[in-house]
Amino acid sequence: MTNLLVTGGAGFIGSNFVQYTVKHKPEYHVTVIDKLTYAGNRANLESVNDRIEFIEGDICNAELMDRLVAKNDIIVHFAAESHNDNSLRNPWPFVETNIVGTYTILEAVRKYDKRLHHISTDEVFGDLELDDPNRFTESTPYNPSSPYSSTKASSDMLVRAWMRSFGVKATISNCSNNYGPYQHIEKFIPRQITNILSGIKPKLYGTGEQVRDWIHVDDHNAAVHIILEKGTLGETYIIGADNDHVNNKMVIEQICELMGKGKDWYEHVNDRPGHDQRYAMDSSKLRRELGWQPRYTDNQTGMHDGLLQTIDWYRTHEDWWRPQKEAVEAAYAKQGQ
Ligand code: NAD
Ligand code: DAU
Repeated sequence: MTNLLVTGGAGFIGSNFVQYTVKHKPEYHVTVIDKLTYAGNRANLESVNDRIEFIEGDICNAELMDRLVAKNDIIVHFAAESHNDNSLRNPWPFVETNIVGTYTILEAVRKYDKRLHHISTDEVFGDLELDDPNRFTESTPYNPSSPYSSTKASSDMLVRAWMRSFGVKATISNCSNNYGPYQHIEKFIPRQITNILSGIKPKLYGTGEQVRDWIHVDDHNAAVHIILEKGTLGETYIIGADNDHVNNKMVIEQICELMGKGKDWYEHVNDRPGHDQRYAMDSSKLRRELGWQPRYTDNQTGMHDGLLQTIDWYRTHEDWWRPQKEAVEAAYAKQGQ
């Protein structure tokens, strides 16, 4: 048995990762550490409760992280403050969790010589112009725009420095926008699905021309497992599913259509300040060297089956999202969004 510590395992991607691991990777014993912020939900792990250990705690707690890291072989680090709009309202939790939390984990990993995989984002590279056909690669210079992405970039830099200066055994992955079950309804896709389910028109920031390179969460997590199994220590891997031809307007129109509304049944709202325009990922290194491929790659937006599955999940899990809906929409309304 390999002991696997998953930070942030009660959040969106982390809980999908834990469920995926329990289902497909019986060689791992999983422990989750999660602070259960507004974004973490114990119910996300209900289906695997009897197969994992769960610790409620903060990754900035050095004594706790020391104890947990010592007991495990591999640490997969998902825990973060993850929402750009929140980072514009109050950046401090982002600095604390994303930078100090990652530092705290690195120090424990260094002390006990454990393997770390650090989960990062495409946003560390900044954005591309809408008409720029280039894609981010592992060697694209960092140029983050928001408090969220700058703290994620800082955490990547810490990991790189700890690898080089202290020989910490780590890998990093930078993934594009995820969608799928258990995503918090503050985020673009679940917000629009639950808006429609609530009789509210979906909300598109600005013109909706911005491009996100959408990937299904299971494809992201399968890539993380391949990196754990076959990745080279010290390396960074970009994860993306080649959806960089899809803009926000196309996504919102597709959701409206799939949910039986007219394609135009949405409204434009205030744009996000400093809104990143285009993300596009070149994942050829991961595909070539480690043999990863996304499974959700179909027709015009590459998201049809994944979106249908996601819509169905929110339709059948109203008890999961309904209690938060009013507060999330009230916070957006204050910003004219
Ligand atoms: P999320 O906000 O849904 O989940 C984050 C989890 O971390 C929550 O369960 C929260 O309770 C926990 N957490 C927050 N602060 C903590 C702390 N101090 N100590 C312990 N736990 C804490 O986020 P997500 O969308 O699942 O993202 C997970 C990771 O993936 C993040 O590192 C994010 O930067 C990265 N990422 C996300 C995406 C995306 O599209 N969502 C894409 C690429 C990379
Ligand atoms: O690119 C990876 C990143 O993707 C991750 O690192 C972040 O953790 C994750 O939150 C996500 O960041 P974005 O800011 O791209 O995702 P969000 O879901 O907030 O918004 C996606 C796009 O949709 C973005 O261009 C803003 C727009 N949007 C968002 C909301 C919430 C809208 O048009 N309307 C909305 O209501």
